[in-house]
Amino acid sequence: MRVGVLTGGGDCPGLNAVIRSVVRKGIDVYGYEIYGFRDGWRGPLEGDYERLDVQSVRGILPRGGTILGSSRTNPDKVDGGYERIKENLARAGVDALVAIGGEDTLGVARKLTDGGFDVVGVPKTIDNDLGATDFTFGFDTAVNIVMEAIDRLHTTAESHHRVLIVEVMGRHAGWIALHGGLAGGANVILLPETRFDVEKVCRHIEHRFETRYAPIVVVAEGAMPLEGQMVTQTTELDSFGHVRLGGVGDWLASEVTRRTGKEARCTVLGHIQRGGTPTAFDRVLATRFGLHAIDAVHDGAFGTMVALRGTDIVRVPLAEAVDELKTVPVERYAEAEVFFG
Ligand code: F6P
Repeated sequence: MRVGVLTGGGDCPGLNAVIRSVVRKGIDVYGYEIYGFRDGWRGPLEGDYERLDVQSVRGILPRGGTILGSSRTNPDKVDGGYERIKENLARAGVDALVAIGGEDTLGVARKLTDGGFDVVGVPKTIDNDLGATDFTFGFDTAVNIVMEAIDRLHTTAESHHRVLIVEVMGRHAGWIALHGGLAGGANVILLPETRFDVEKVCRHIEHRFETRYAPIVVVAEGAMPLEGQMVTQTTELDSFGHVRLGGVGDWLASEVTRRTGKEARCTVLGHIQRGGTPTAFDRVLATRFGLHAIDAVHDGAFGTMVALRGTDIVRVPLAEAVDELKTVPVERYAEAEVFFG
């Protein structure tokens, strides 16, 4: 049997660990041939692939990014896209596909499954916003990077009596901001799920200065003030209809300075959160996802995604995985609010 594997959407640490597992168990245990498709759905659309053997995945476990490349190519935007994918997979003799991605990549996987092709999904994203799995890999690494950045910002903020604002990724979910901010001891954490009151943020900041400690504000790129709109970098949409977020941190810094007279600066962590080597947690989770994904292929459990429930890896319908964004519940945010101000 020939099994294809691809990585789509924004990259994240741990993708190579999944590929390694699929290849190692696929070849050694099941005797499959494994083919890696390049750059997400572009690979199957254009018939761009390579054979992966055990040698080709040696040493990739700690490496960030993806040896297969990634893209946000959307077959829905290509004339006859799904038919082309099926033709190219048939031409390559590929019987089943392991698609590693977030909601967009897995949404395509679901349509392909509905169209009769055999796909198993693996959830990845630093945003941790996929329903049906307790965690996606990549998230833990991103949170650790945010935490380390906040630790460093604390000392320079104190030296200069400044407000330092840290803008983090996460799109429309505040998981990275919430966990990074909690782990780093932020003064205020602002999430996309709850609109924020700039005046209240300023009061927290002033209170922190009164206690002779410089405030760190963590703001998610998708956070919005009570009045006004989400700040975006451009109005252009990517092929899945997403706008590029970012800029709320700088906007907030100037508002804070205007309202409190305190010097405020913004640090945008950006793609640093997605780069580099995965944490031990992400390596183990990604490795287990890969092993269970190739088991699902072997069992013919197509149209499913592997997911983490507690400490178990389970199979859930792809539909369940992509139907709903997992955002931060109000009561989880309330836990963090105890530390504000
Ligand atoms: O979904 C992962 C993510 O890193 C988001 O947190 C962020 O908004 C987006 O991707 C950035 O995407 P790109 O690298 O394509 O600009």
